[in-house]
Amino acid sequence: MKYNISFHPTTKSNLDAVDFNNIPFGETFSDHMFVADYRNGAWQDLRIEPFGPITMSPANITLHYGQSIFEGMKAFKNQNGMPVLFRPEMHAQRLNASAARMCMPDVPEDLFLQGLNELIGIDHAWIPTTPNSSLYVRPFMFGTQEKIGVKPSSSYKFMIFTAPVGPYYDKPIKLIAANKYVRAVPGGVGEAKAAGNYAAGLLPTQEAHDAGFDQIMWTDNRNYQQIQECGTMNIFFIIGDTVVTPETNGAILKGITRNTLLHLLRDKGIKVEERAITINELVEAHAAGTLKDVFGAGTAAVIAPVSEISYYENKDDANYKTLKLPAIESRDISKNLKKELHEIRTGLRPDPHNWVHEVAVRDVAAV
Ligand code: COI
Repeated sequence: MKYNISFHPTTKSNLDAVDFNNIPFGETFSDHMFVADYRNGAWQDLRIEPFGPITMSPANITLHYGQSIFEGMKAFKNQNGMPVLFRPEMHAQRLNASAARMCMPDVPEDLFLQGLNELIGIDHAWIPTTPNSSLYVRPFMFGTQEKIGVKPSSSYKFMIFTAPVGPYYDKPIKLIAANKYVRAVPGGVGEAKAAGNYAAGLLPTQEAHDAGFDQIMWTDNRNYQQIQECGTMNIFFIIGDTVVTPETNGAILKGITRNTLLHLLRDKGIKVEERAITINELVEAHAAGTLKDVFGAGTAAVIAPVSEISYYENKDDANYKTLKLPAIESRDISKNLKKELHEIRTGLRPDPHNWVHEVAVRDVAAV
């Protein structure tokens, strides 16, 4: 279905103010945003308008009960200078999986894709081409009803805005295994990209920073042994010649970068296992010299090498132990994966899975 999306261009672009050689993550926003309002059971008033504040009632239901979900994806330029999106339909599907869990309405996949394509087509000049940069795309939905009462909102906003970004991490990260807090449990909302999951991670992460670590390695709630994720990313281990990542069990986000890397690894014939993995297994592999690599994988960071993992042997121990991981230069599999992914996304190598979708550029002046 083709939707009627109105366009209200900005009268003053901010593009000239951006230093594309020095882009902090998530602080600069492109000129326009896509907005759709859900009322009376239907998405309506579809529009692209200047990026800017939205007003809401202090009794907005989301501010109180957290009915809010989001996606994170990226746009690039290909070798012909055309904008491209990476696996946009999978992001649309995951948004709807999150929406279902949080009792929110579906955004039709073709509406998501049309709004997204038109927005990128208009703000294509905001896509950076400097190394390790991209246009981060943030689709999100939240309840808008004015009501103090715990129930699903009767109205919603679905919006997309974009932000030129540089790298998420500028160095390998140090992890501390959680032994006090949990991010999520099976049957909870950890598999949804729900805003509250990220809020739940703030205090543990702040405590980890205060203790000199970069991120938490999330573990299960029973004995803090079974590994789930790291920071806001899925986590991968290379043990011997096998790549292992925790299986999604209801507590783990079904990462699109995770899924992409699993495809690329299997395409190359590298052995991959999605299964439960414990800290104890890491300690043993480290002692045996077979723990070759650990990295986080997510849209924002892509592949984030882990330099060391600290852990408490017993839940109540006061002191932690640290596994120092092999030199980053020795990690050929993850280095090559990152390069391959970058080359697929920017058209430097074939795209056998049809992940990359070119976006039609819109001449804003002529709209
Ligand atoms: C992403 O990797 O895109 C995420 O959603 C993490 C975000 C909190 C920056």
